[in-house]
Amino acid sequence: MIPNTYVAQCSAAPISEVWSWIKDPDSPNLIDMCQAVPAYLPAQPLRDYLGHAISNGEGAGYTSIEGIEPLRNALATDINQRYQAGINANDAMITAGCNQAFCAVIDALCQTGDEVIVALPCYFNHQMWLTIRGITPRYLSLNPETAIPDPAEVTGLLSERTKAIVLVSPNNPTGATYSPECIEAFYQLAKQHNLALIVDETYRDFIDPDSPPHLLFQHADWRDTFIHLYSFSKVFALTGHRVGAIVCGQPFQAELAKIQDCAIICASHTGQLAATYGLQNLHDWKLEKSEAMSQRADALRKAFKVPELTYSLVSVGAYFAYVKHPFEVDSHQVSKRLVEEFEVLCLPGVFFGEGQEQYLRFAFANVDEVRFPELVKRLIASQA
Ligand SMILES: Cc1ncc(COP(=O)(O)O)c(C=O)c1O
Repeated sequence: MIPNTYVAQCSAAPISEVWSWIKDPDSPNLIDMCQAVPAYLPAQPLRDYLGHAISNGEGAGYTSIEGIEPLRNALATDINQRYQAGINANDAMITAGCNQAFCAVIDALCQTGDEVIVALPCYFNHQMWLTIRGITPRYLSLNPETAIPDPAEVTGLLSERTKAIVLVSPNNPTGATYSPECIEAFYQLAKQHNLALIVDETYRDFIDPDSPPHLLFQHADWRDTFIHLYSFSKVFALTGHRVGAIVCGQPFQAELAKIQDCAIICASHTGQLAATYGLQNLHDWKLEKSEAMSQRADALRKAFKVPELTYSLVSVGAYFAYVKHPFEVDSHQVSKRLVEEFEVLCLPGVFFGEGQEQYLRFAFANVDEVRFPELVKRLIASQA
């Protein structure tokens, strides 16, 4: 058989490659900052609830393509509180996680040969899906001081084939959070050029819970331009349950429903029950975890303030730190050496798009802050 050339051109899943470099995955010395996963289990009451629900036979059947009503309602309520907005439950479609949400949105918007504007560095699964679909990414450059993309670059990247602008905020891999003004500027450009603005907000629960990440939902006509992507994976530690969401206008949702019906029929029903329970009952638990992550980010900033350290932090936030390494070889080699010689596992910047040879991504959410001084010690040792 002959595989699809676009799929063959796409690089292999980065996390598996980096895992293959580890000699002893069970080593207690390993500082694993590779994959972005919550370092804790779901809340005990959620586990108890789900156990009983499954044992009572709930969650075994298909749901509607769009997802169960209680979850769509709870998500709309959550968004309306957080974003001071007035969206409807009907605006939300539940997906098999946020990655699948992105794939469905791209499929509903783009054809092979179309172009999508993405910010560098970009989330590797976004880039992989664009490659698989034969869609050309046009890159907003990395600002090495702030890691915030510049809306002024959009005009120079436009072509007749441009269909969308994709942002991730808080960002993977940089951890940078884009200001509401920055996101608004991208929205206005998208609107002006009749593009979709897709914002992946997987990590939105790990930034200041008291201020809205942006004000796009307050525009009366947001549904013509804006597509919000969300994940329940990190917020309620449900990564394996595969549940996320797309929030968008009804006409676009009708197109998405065709894709969803063929690809997944519905998101995991038990995952949807778990997410509903989380939204309805775990507000305080969520805030506690968010606060813990923000303290961890502060601890990392502090740990890096060591004069001998020549690795430098570009940006830190939510789950990630983007770090500039001091070597003249590319980040792939640096990352491999860090794991082989120092048992520090991180991802090379080269997995996040062109021009990222000088950078590494540390998913600090995975590691208790008591280990940060040891991390820095090993990074200093690697400079020799
Ligand atoms: C930016 C971003 N989007 C989506 C995902 C995947 O989320 P999900 O588990 O909901 O598919 C991740 C996970 O790391 C991510 O970092």
